[in-house]
Parts: sequence; structure tokens; C-alpha cells
Amino acid sequence: MTATVEERAAALAQIADEIRVCMQCELHKTRTESVPGEGPADARVMLIGEAPGWNEDQQGRPFVGAAGKFLDELLGIAGLARGDVFITNIVKSRPPGNRDPLPDEIAACRPFLERQIAVIDPDVIVTLGRFSMARWFPGERISRIHGQPKRVGQRLIVPMYHPAAALHQQALKTTIQEDFSRLPKILGEAEAVRRSAEASDEPPAEQMGLF
Ligand code: URA
Repeated sequence: MTATVEERAAALAQIADEIRVCMQCELHKTRTESVPGEGPADARVMLIGEAPGWNEDQQGRPFVGAAGKFLDELLGIAGLARGDVFITNIVKSRPPGNRDPLPDEIAACRPFLERQIAVIDPDVIVTLGRFSMARWFPGERISRIHGQPKRVGQRLIVPMYHPAAALHQQALKTTIQEDFSRLPKILGEAEAVRRSAEASDEPPAEQMGLF
């Protein structure tokens, strides 16, 4: 039986509660707030960044600093508002000094991310930066594959540059703006993929062991 949106929101709230008290890696010792992510339980688009920065760590919310402001602008280019999408990170607590997340930190957080994906079941996942890209495109280079959707099960995964990287480099800024402008078309394709998979009774992606 399909879960109602209220049941899915409750499942996400449960995951967020677990993230807030999680002590699975060393980051819990230095964080102020963990940052579970936010957005509608039935969002069609999910965005996955790297890790909370200083502002996010203070507020417990994703992408609320300068990169977040730019992300809002990019969503606008795609005809989306922040309230339409679910935004989270590959790692839910801030690495000290904004260093790169370590493999064991990514591994410790992974079950939370997988559960969030399974509950939301988005048509499109946008990865922001190399750490979330590596989840679906191991060994790939963002400069080669940015903006190009890949079908995984019934959904499309779209690797994008990280907004923080693009913010201060005009060439990358133009590239990421162009990539986001193609998102509505990709979303249309993803909806068609899902409809045809449902018509042929294909099991959902997460039941196919792809996540
Ligand atoms: N950068 C990220 O990757 N995530 C945030 O939440 C903020 C900045």
C-alpha cells in the first residue's frame, strides 16, 4: 500500500530526530546543530550537497549561507522555489573548518540519506559537488558529466557543480545557470520514465537494490 504524504512526512521527521542525536562519527563532538535537510515529503526533486558550513551548523538548516542564496537563484532559473524541493547533504554535521568530509563520515551518514531517498522517492536527484556525485558516478569528473542526467531505476540523477564553487568563478557560474535552466526538461523526461516503468510494473528503484 502506498504511504500517504502525512505518513511520509512523519517518517522523515523520525529520520531527522535520529540525525539530531547521532553520534556515529566524530563530527558530533564539534557540531553545533546537525542538519537533517528540509522540504516536502513528496518533493519530485531532491538536491544533495556536501556538508553543512558555518551558517548551516548554527541554524540546523541546509544551504542558508551565500551558497544557499545562489542555490535559490538557480532554482528560480529552473522555475522552482525552495519549498518545492527537498534539500539535504551527503554528511549531516559540519566538518570542522569546512574541510572535506572523510570516507568514514560519509559512510556513517549514508543510511540516513538512503532512508530519506526511499521515503521521498523523487523523480530527479540533483547532486551538488563531487561528494554526492560520487554516490552515483564513482570515478567520474564533474567537468565531463555536469548537467547530463543518468537513469538509475525509475529516476534520473543529474550531477551539477556545487553552487559554492560556481559562485566566485564566472565561467562556472554561467555553466551551472545553463545546467539548471535545463532542469524542467529533465523533470519532464523523468516523469515519463516513471510513468512508463509503472505501466510495465517495474519495481521501484530502491527495491531493485540500486540504492
Ligand atoms: N554547502 C553544502 O554542501 N551544503 C550546505 O548545506 C551548505 C553549503
